[in-house]
Amino acid sequence: MSRRPLIAANWKMHKTCQEARTFMAELLPKIADLKEVDVLVCPPYTLISTVDQCREGSKVLLGAQNMYHENKGAFTGEVAPQMLKDLNCEFVIIGHSERRWVFGETDETINKKVHAAIANGLIPVLCVGEKLDEREKNLTDQVILNQMEKNLAGVSEDFISGMVIAYEPVWAIGTGKNATTKDAKDAIALIREFVHSKFGQEVAEKVRILYGGSVKPENVKTYMEQEGIDGALVGGASLEADSFAKLTRF
Ligand code: PGA
Repeated sequence: MSRRPLIAANWKMHKTCQEARTFMAELLPKIADLKEVDVLVCPPYTLISTVDQCREGSKVLLGAQNMYHENKGAFTGEVAPQMLKDLNCEFVIIGHSERRWVFGETDETINKKVHAAIANGLIPVLCVGEKLDEREKNLTDQVILNQMEKNLAGVSEDFISGMVIAYEPVWAIGTGKNATTKDAKDAIALIREFVHSKFGQEVAEKVRILYGGSVKPENVKTYMEQEGIDGALVGGASLEADSFAKLTRF
Protein backbone atom coordinates (compact mmCIF):
# COMPACT_ATOMS: atom_id res chain seq x y z
CA MET A 1 0.00 0.00 0.00
CA SER A 2 1.47 3.35 -0.92
CA ARG A 3 0.78 6.30 1.29
CA ARG A 4 1.03 9.85 -0.03
CA PRO A 5 4.02 11.62 1.48
CA LEU A 6 3.18 14.67 3.58
CA ILE A 7 5.54 17.56 4.27
CA ALA A 8 4.16 19.82 6.97
CA ALA A 9 5.29 23.25 8.12
CA ASN A 10 4.84 24.18 11.77
CA TRP A 11 5.55 27.90 11.91
CA LYS A 12 5.14 27.98 15.69
CA MET A 13 4.98 31.59 16.97
CA HIS A 14 6.49 33.23 13.91
CA LYS A 15 5.51 35.69 11.16
CA THR A 16 3.36 38.74 10.61
CA CYS A 17 0.58 38.92 7.99
CA GLN A 18 2.94 40.50 5.49
CA GLU A 19 5.61 37.88 6.10
CA ALA A 20 3.05 35.13 5.61
CA ARG A 21 1.90 36.68 2.33
CA THR A 22 5.47 36.98 1.09
CA PHE A 23 6.19 33.37 2.06
CA MET A 24 3.13 32.07 0.20
CA ALA A 25 3.86 34.19 -2.88
CA GLU A 26 7.37 32.73 -2.98
CA LEU A 27 6.34 29.16 -2.15
CA LEU A 28 3.50 28.54 -4.60
CA PRO A 29 5.44 28.82 -7.88
CA LYS A 30 8.17 26.60 -6.44
CA ILE A 31 5.75 23.75 -5.69
CA ALA A 32 3.20 24.26 -8.49
CA ASP A 33 4.32 21.13 -10.34
CA LEU A 34 4.37 18.84 -7.27
CA LYS A 35 1.99 15.97 -7.82
CA GLU A 36 2.96 13.15 -5.50
CA VAL A 37 3.44 15.05 -2.26
CA ASP A 38 0.94 16.71 0.10
CA VAL A 39 2.08 20.05 1.47
CA LEU A 40 0.58 21.33 4.71
CA VAL A 41 1.12 24.74 6.31
CA CYS A 42 0.26 25.26 9.99
CA PRO A 43 0.57 28.97 10.78
CA PRO A 44 -0.30 30.61 14.11
CA TYR A 45 -4.02 31.34 14.55
CA THR A 46 -3.58 34.98 13.52
CA LEU A 47 -2.35 33.96 10.05
CA ILE A 48 -4.77 31.17 9.20
CA SER A 49 -7.06 33.41 7.14
CA THR A 50 -4.15 35.06 5.40
CA VAL A 51 -2.63 31.72 4.40
CA ASP A 52 -6.06 30.47 3.35
CA GLN A 53 -6.51 33.44 1.02
CA CYS A 54 -2.99 33.13 -0.35
CA ARG A 55 -3.30 29.38 -1.07
CA GLU A 56 -6.32 29.81 -3.34
CA GLY A 57 -5.90 27.86 -6.55
CA SER A 58 -3.09 25.73 -5.09
CA LYS A 59 -3.18 22.34 -3.40
CA VAL A 60 -1.58 23.56 -0.19
CA LEU A 61 -3.35 22.16 2.88
CA LEU A 62 -4.07 24.28 5.93
CA GLY A 63 -3.80 23.40 9.60
CA ALA A 64 -3.69 24.95 13.05
CA GLN A 65 -1.06 24.25 15.69
CA ASN A 66 -3.44 23.60 18.56
CA MET A 67 -7.07 24.03 19.66
CA TYR A 68 -9.27 23.58 22.71
CA HIS A 69 -11.57 20.57 22.94
CA GLU A 70 -14.81 22.44 23.71
CA ASN A 71 -16.80 24.06 20.94
CA LYS A 72 -17.81 27.22 22.77
CA GLY A 73 -17.97 28.75 26.21
CA ALA A 74 -16.14 30.76 28.81
CA PHE A 75 -12.60 29.71 27.89
CA THR A 76 -10.73 32.97 27.58
CA GLY A 77 -7.91 32.81 25.09
CA GLU A 78 -8.83 29.44 23.62
CA VAL A 79 -9.84 28.55 20.06
CA ALA A 80 -12.53 25.97 19.26
CA PRO A 81 -12.47 23.23 16.61
CA GLN A 82 -15.46 24.82 14.85
CA MET A 83 -13.61 28.12 14.65
CA LEU A 84 -10.78 26.36 12.80
CA LYS A 85 -13.26 24.68 10.45
CA ASP A 86 -14.84 28.07 9.87
CA LEU A 87 -11.43 29.33 8.66
CA ASN A 88 -11.13 26.35 6.28
CA CYS A 89 -8.53 24.43 8.28
CA GLU A 90 -8.33 20.77 7.34
CA PHE A 91 -5.74 19.68 9.92
CA VAL A 92 -4.79 20.47 13.49
CA ILE A 93 -1.56 19.59 15.29
CA ILE A 94 -2.34 18.03 18.65
CA GLY A 95 0.00 17.22 21.51
CA HIS A 96 3.08 18.94 20.11
CA SER A 97 5.88 18.59 22.64
CA GLU A 98 5.87 22.35 23.25
CA ARG A 99 2.20 22.05 24.24
CA ARG A 100 3.05 19.13 26.50
CA TRP A 101 6.22 20.44 28.12
CA VAL A 102 5.90 24.24 27.96
CA PHE A 103 2.15 24.49 28.53
CA GLY A 104 1.54 21.38 30.64
CA GLU A 105 -0.91 19.51 28.41
CA THR A 106 -1.57 16.02 29.73
CA ASP A 107 -2.25 12.82 27.82
CA GLU A 108 -5.88 13.10 28.94
CA THR A 109 -6.22 16.63 27.53
CA ILE A 110 -4.62 15.52 24.30
CA ASN A 111 -7.04 12.60 24.06
CA LYS A 112 -9.99 15.01 24.43
CA LYS A 113 -8.54 17.18 21.68
CA VAL A 114 -8.11 14.22 19.33
CA HIS A 115 -11.77 13.32 19.86
CA ALA A 116 -12.90 16.93 19.40
CA ALA A 117 -10.89 17.33 16.20
CA ILE A 118 -12.38 14.19 14.68
CA ALA A 119 -15.91 15.09 15.80
CA ASN A 120 -15.54 18.41 14.00
CA GLY A 121 -14.08 17.05 10.78
CA LEU A 122 -10.50 18.11 11.40
CA ILE A 123 -7.63 15.69 10.80
CA PRO A 124 -5.43 15.44 13.89
CA VAL A 125 -1.66 15.45 13.47
CA LEU A 126 -0.89 13.75 16.77
CA CYS A 127 2.66 14.27 18.03
CA VAL A 128 4.35 11.75 20.30
CA GLY A 129 7.95 11.37 21.40
CA GLU A 130 10.31 10.91 24.31
CA LYS A 131 12.39 13.43 26.23
CA LEU A 132 16.18 13.16 26.46
CA ASP A 133 16.26 11.69 29.97
CA GLU A 134 13.69 9.10 28.92
CA ARG A 135 15.81 8.09 25.95
CA GLU A 136 18.90 7.90 28.16
CA LYS A 137 17.03 5.59 30.52
CA ASN A 138 15.99 3.37 27.62
CA LEU A 139 12.36 4.33 28.11
CA THR A 140 11.74 5.49 24.53
CA ASP A 141 9.46 2.64 23.49
CA GLN A 142 7.54 2.66 26.73
CA VAL A 143 6.95 6.43 26.54
CA ILE A 144 5.77 6.31 22.94
CA LEU A 145 3.43 3.37 23.54
CA ASN A 146 2.01 4.99 26.65
CA GLN A 147 1.32 8.22 24.76
CA MET A 148 -0.26 6.34 21.86
CA GLU A 149 -2.46 4.30 24.18
CA LYS A 150 -3.67 7.28 26.19
CA ASN A 151 -3.91 9.80 23.38
CA LEU A 152 -5.94 7.49 21.13
CA ALA A 153 -8.15 5.98 23.85
CA GLY A 154 -11.69 5.52 22.60
CA VAL A 155 -10.95 6.69 19.05
CA SER A 156 -12.67 4.54 16.44
CA GLU A 157 -10.52 2.70 13.91
CA ASP A 158 -12.57 4.38 11.16
CA PHE A 159 -10.76 7.63 11.95
CA ILE A 160 -7.28 6.36 12.72
CA SER A 161 -6.50 5.46 9.12
CA GLY A 162 -7.08 9.05 7.99
CA MET A 163 -5.07 10.54 10.82
CA VAL A 164 -1.48 11.67 10.83
CA ILE A 165 0.93 10.74 13.62
CA ALA A 166 4.26 12.50 14.04
CA TYR A 167 7.17 10.96 15.90
CA GLU A 168 9.00 13.91 17.37
CA PRO A 169 11.74 13.11 19.89
CA VAL A 170 11.65 16.13 22.19
CA TRP A 171 15.44 16.40 22.35
CA ALA A 172 15.60 16.78 18.56
CA ILE A 173 13.15 19.66 18.24
CA GLY A 174 14.68 23.02 17.48
CA THR A 175 18.04 21.81 18.75
CA GLY A 176 19.74 20.97 15.48
CA LYS A 177 20.24 17.46 16.91
CA ASN A 178 18.26 15.25 14.62
CA ALA A 179 17.46 11.63 15.42
CA THR A 180 19.43 9.12 13.40
CA THR A 181 17.48 7.62 10.55
CA LYS A 182 17.56 4.34 12.45
CA ASP A 183 16.11 5.90 15.61
CA ALA A 184 13.35 7.53 13.55
CA LYS A 185 12.65 4.39 11.55
CA ASP A 186 12.52 2.19 14.66
CA ALA A 187 10.20 4.53 16.55
CA ILE A 188 7.91 4.84 13.55
CA ALA A 189 7.85 1.07 13.12
CA LEU A 190 6.88 0.78 16.78
CA ILE A 191 4.04 3.29 16.29
CA ARG A 192 2.77 1.42 13.22
CA GLU A 193 2.99 -1.87 15.10
CA PHE A 194 0.90 -0.35 17.89
CA VAL A 195 -1.71 0.79 15.37
CA HIS A 196 -1.67 -2.68 13.83
CA SER A 197 -2.21 -4.44 17.13
CA LYS A 198 -5.01 -2.09 18.19
CA PHE A 199 -6.78 -1.29 14.96
CA GLY A 200 -5.74 -3.93 12.46
CA GLN A 201 -3.52 -4.24 9.43
CA GLU A 202 -5.53 -2.16 7.00
CA VAL A 203 -5.55 0.84 9.34
CA ALA A 204 -1.83 0.41 10.05
CA GLU A 205 -1.09 0.41 6.33
CA LYS A 206 -3.07 3.57 5.73
CA VAL A 207 -2.08 5.80 8.65
CA ARG A 208 0.60 8.33 7.76
CA ILE A 209 3.48 8.61 10.22
CA LEU A 210 5.90 11.52 9.98
CA TYR A 211 9.26 12.23 11.55
CA GLY A 212 9.89 15.65 13.10
CA GLY A 213 12.94 17.18 14.75
CA SER A 214 15.56 19.32 12.97
CA VAL A 215 14.54 18.18 9.48
CA LYS A 216 16.29 20.32 6.87
CA PRO A 217 16.73 20.28 3.08
CA GLU A 218 20.11 18.57 3.64
CA ASN A 219 18.73 15.62 5.62
CA VAL A 220 15.12 15.19 4.47
CA LYS A 221 16.03 12.62 1.84
CA THR A 222 17.69 10.29 4.32
CA TYR A 223 14.48 10.16 6.35
CA MET A 224 12.17 9.85 3.37
CA GLU A 225 14.18 6.90 2.09
CA GLN A 226 13.38 4.88 5.20
CA GLU A 227 10.64 2.32 4.96
CA GLY A 228 7.60 3.50 6.90
CA ILE A 229 8.49 7.20 7.17
CA ASP A 230 5.74 9.00 5.28
CA GLY A 231 6.85 12.58 5.65
CA ALA A 232 8.17 15.29 7.92
CA LEU A 233 6.84 17.84 10.38
CA VAL A 234 9.20 20.77 10.13
CA GLY A 235 9.67 23.80 12.37
CA GLY A 236 12.75 25.96 11.77
CA ALA A 237 13.39 24.93 8.17
CA SER A 238 9.78 25.65 7.20
CA LEU A 239 10.04 29.38 7.85
CA GLU A 240 11.74 30.31 4.59
CA ALA A 241 9.84 29.52 1.39
CA ASP A 242 12.97 28.41 -0.42
CA SER A 243 14.00 25.97 2.29
CA PHE A 244 10.46 24.65 2.74
CA ALA A 245 10.05 24.15 -1.02
CA LYS A 246 13.34 22.20 -1.08
CA LEU A 247 11.97 19.89 1.63
CA THR A 248 9.21 18.78 -0.71
CA ARG A 249 11.82 17.58 -3.29
CA PHE A 250 13.33 14.76 -1.29
P1 PGA B 1 12.23 21.77 14.22
O1 PGA B 1 10.75 21.61 14.86
O2 PGA B 1 12.12 21.32 12.79
O3 PGA B 1 12.54 23.23 14.35
O4 PGA B 1 13.12 20.90 15.02
C1 PGA B 1 9.96 20.49 14.59
C2 PGA B 1 8.64 20.59 15.29
O5 PGA B 1 8.60 21.13 16.40
O6 PGA B 1 7.60 20.16 14.77
